[in-house]
Amino acid sequence: MLNEILSIKNLAGEEIKKACNLKDIQDIRIKYLGKKGVLTGRMKSLGSISKEDRPEYGRTLNESKNFIEDLLNRQEEQFRSTELNQSIQTQRIDVTVPGCFVPFGHLHPVTQTLDEITAIFISLGFNVEEGPEIELDFYNFEALNMPRDHPARDMQDTFYINDDVVLRTHTSPVQVRVMEKNIPPLRVIAPGKVYRCDADVSHIPMFHQLEGFMVDKDIRMTDLKGMLELFVHSVFGIDTSLRFRPSFFPFTEPSAEIDISCVICKGTGCNVCKGTGWIEILGAGMINPRVLEMSGYDPDLYTGFAFGLGIERVAMLKYGIDDIRLFPENDKRFLEQF
Ligand code: DAH
Repeated sequence: MLNEILSIKNLAGEEIKKACNLKDIQDIRIKYLGKKGVLTGRMKSLGSISKEDRPEYGRTLNESKNFIEDLLNRQEEQFRSTELNQSIQTQRIDVTVPGCFVPFGHLHPVTQTLDEITAIFISLGFNVEEGPEIELDFYNFEALNMPRDHPARDMQDTFYINDDVVLRTHTSPVQVRVMEKNIPPLRVIAPGKVYRCDADVSHIPMFHQLEGFMVDKDIRMTDLKGMLELFVHSVFGIDTSLRFRPSFFPFTEPSAEIDISCVICKGTGCNVCKGTGWIEILGAGMINPRVLEMSGYDPDLYTGFAFGLGIERVAMLKYGIDDIRLFPENDKRFLEQF
């Protein structure tokens, strides 16, 4: 009888050694120690053993049960830690794996150009001012020496809100607004949106301008030339030439239109400069004494220059873009190129 228990114990020991995983361990536990297990059966029949043999038989049974239990527990522990290690290995987070790519946005090419130009004039000591986009007819036209029914108003196709209010057609009204509230010396740029009822490859109804002006005693046309030369050289390169052509604006006298040597063909002639080698980029002049006077300045004491520049036009030349309508379209395939 004792031998039988010892051989059960040995058999269980063998099986535990051969077990491959937690499932095997569980099966062996049930087989020997479960409710209907081999050793449990022997325990139950302890009562039928003679009194003399019972203590030793009982002890051997208990020892065998403890032995098997202990062995099962150790093996189970072993499998558990192997399993844990395996899952740590396979589920390890590799922090060096590249993450999901989130595309970066960037500033619109018009904003980039505007920021670049603004930075140049700030470095020359200019302050940035802003004016309203919904503007009084008075500031947009009258105070700039364009009374009602003046033919020069036809140069700018205007969106009228009513007889006295317009969407500003240019940034020049900021000149008057700033002069009204400040005394010279003034060195100001006024960037912003302007509106004209016009649309084709080189015109859109909403675009951007940058107005610049300087007012003080003894400001001369040469100051304007020097500033503009510096600006053009910073944006388009030092080998770009400038050309001042006489022109007319009611708010400047004398007035000029400024051309730069074609940035595409370097002046030899191409379809961008229509074979002339020159491209017009801005309007400028000495502020008309009447405008100074209407803004409350004594034109005998103060003089000033002013210029107005289209930002989209500069961006088109800088990046070689041939259709202004691409800017407000906001097609990502276009924007991603800048
Ligand atoms: N305001 C003019 C326009 O939009 C541009 C301009 C021309 C502005 C000459 C000026 C200037 O300050 O002096 O057509």
